[in-house]
Amino acid sequence: MQDHESHFDLDAGDEPLCNSSSNRKFNDVSQAYLSRRGLMLGSVAATLAATFGTSAARANAAAAAESRPSSKLLGFDAIAPSVQDSVTVPKGYRTQVIAAWGEPITGSMPAFSTNASGADQGMQIGMHHDGMHFFPLDGSSADGLLVVNHEYIEPRFLHASYAGQPLSNSDVVIEDGVRNADHVLKEINAHGVSVFRLSRDEAGQWSVRQDPRNRRITGLTPMEISGPVRGSDLVKTKYSPDGVRVRGTLNNCAHGVTPWNTYMTAEENWAGYFRNVNQVDGKPALPREHARYGIRTGRSRYGWELAPGGADEYVRFDATPSGADPTRDYRNEPNAFGWMVEIDPFDPAATPVKRTALGRFAHEGVVFAPVVEGRPVVCYSGDDAQFEYIYKFVSGAPYHAASASGAILDEGALYVARFNDDGTGEWLPLVYGQGALTAANGFTSQADVLVNTRLAADRAGATKMDRPEWGAIDPRTGEVYFTLTNNARRSEKDRDAANPRVANEFGQIIRWTEEGGDHAAARFNWNMFLLAGDQDDSRDSRGNPLGAGATLACPDGLWFDADGRMWIQTDIGESAMYHGKLHAFGSNQMLAADPVTGEIRRFLVGPVGQEITGVVTTPDRRTMFINVQHPGATTSAEDFAAGTFSSNWPDGSGSAPRSATVVITRDDHGVIGA
Ligand code: FEO
Ligand code: CA
Ligand code: CA
Ligand code: CA
Repeated sequence: MQDHESHFDLDAGDEPLCNSSSNRKFNDVSQAYLSRRGLMLGSVAATLAATFGTSAARANAAAAAESRPSSKLLGFDAIAPSVQDSVTVPKGYRTQVIAAWGEPITGSMPAFSTNASGADQGMQIGMHHDGMHFFPLDGSSADGLLVVNHEYIEPRFLHASYAGQPLSNSDVVIEDGVRNADHVLKEINAHGVSVFRLSRDEAGQWSVRQDPRNRRITGLTPMEISGPVRGSDLVKTKYSPDGVRVRGTLNNCAHGVTPWNTYMTAEENWAGYFRNVNQVDGKPALPREHARYGIRTGRSRYGWELAPGGADEYVRFDATPSGADPTRDYRNEPNAFGWMVEIDPFDPAATPVKRTALGRFAHEGVVFAPVVEGRPVVCYSGDDAQFEYIYKFVSGAPYHAASASGAILDEGALYVARFNDDGTGEWLPLVYGQGALTAANGFTSQADVLVNTRLAADRAGATKMDRPEWGAIDPRTGEVYFTLTNNARRSEKDRDAANPRVANEFGQIIRWTEEGGDHAAARFNWNMFLLAGDQDDSRDSRGNPLGAGATLACPDGLWFDADGRMWIQTDIGESAMYHGKLHAFGSNQMLAADPVTGEIRRFLVGPVGQEITGVVTTPDRRTMFINVQHPGATTSAEDFAAGTFSSNWPDGSGSAPRSATVVITRDDHGVIGA
């Protein structure tokens, strides 16, 4: 059994490598393709030739870049990389920080304090902001509900009593084998989703407002399991002997917005929150639905199962079989995580629903294709771990605006992507009874296929990707874009056209068009939008090196505004940031791209040690919200002990850093980016 707890190339919040399947590495197909075209495999140029548009545009790279007409979509001057402990934006733009971790939004409104209790945290904004959406009230661009994911936590900044101790960014304090119970509660309550009203005053300042719809959804909030897995033996637990309920959502990375205006939060790096210490013959013995996802075999990430007193809501993080059957322990608790969760932000009493038909993996987020009356609902989701896959769900029932609800996501087909050698792609169905997903191969039902989505995708022969992150769809063309953030473990033998670089530090953005322009199609045509990197090792959509104002590394967040500007956010991990080849990129940032001309300009750089993630505008596109996650994560254990943090953002003057939302507006009140 692989030790999932130490990986040099991953950070505290990332998923470990778990894909040991032998399904065909994409290199096999790209080798065939490249040799057929008479190209030399072994140089990046050859691979690029196979994946970038037409060859003519590549021939005169520099000249083409010079002569390209300037984008009509991008009206600001690119800013330079930065390592300042502040948010930098172009001239003519301004920023305001709102909704920092710990700000009260509901209940008795406990004021922010690092001494806040676990119960207090359940009434305050969570930690480590990630994907988000602005739901306008009555179409307003000055008043709405902001819904924000909280991906994970840094215990050292969460607990006042951790001050002065030499702690790194994922360390927790365990004394005599137990955790402080209120710390565990606070950590669980710092996860999940925040829903709060936000409005702009006459002076143009935004603030969080009290509202009956304000709500915290946490790792403890009761949720329904729906779709094919509801009631399955695989999700029966002591808490829910009938397998229809579970407490909480965890590691909520990116999100999606449904065509019926609800919010979907993704469960990404959830596996590490659980442990299963079952052994046979002195070796870890995990069921496949744990092993293929990296459930830990020692202590869980934060050791929540070590809270004293045996409280049911904490012991469930230990999935080791201990009872006579699954309804007497929590061996199946991890099977209720790894889903997309639907939340109705307008109804604070609504129970969140885990939509299992969309599959179980390290969901980065989900992006819905534009709906067509009478046609299926289609959405795309990436599995962010090394060598994992990109998926698509197509509803069984047709969409009708008048009656659409989340129920339409409970029936349909899940597909996984294969990127073929000739620039085409296929959607491989993950349907019980079809192809290899039969009893002969150990699958017993559609619920079983979905709980074991990764294994089903292995069997189907999907393409192993360089950590799929956000997807976004160009509103003008319907083209689907996905970021592939990096993959330190990609080697020469598994290099391929869609994932063309060995020890890929910089990442890439891939895009495709569905056959016939139909998002429900079974085939697609793909090409590369960009290879991220420095000017010596990058390519834009025309095959040219990225210019100085466009260099980026580790693309993650991706979003189109209504005008068709594509916003790209970066997540260079905190252990790689500022070192080696990543040094020149400075702090994580956001860029805007014109997908037609391929032009890219750096728009924003965040403070020290953070990643920029989450982006949305008001309907008038004159106010943008982005999130700054984990500022100061680069603080060493020694510096933390000394009370010196690598970032003091946003409160300044020596304070501990806090994740927060940033509001961006223009001095002349114009459209952001234009
Ligand atoms: Fe949570 Fe894959 O970034
Ligand atoms: Ca992300
Ligand atoms: Ca991250
Ligand atoms: Ca990331």
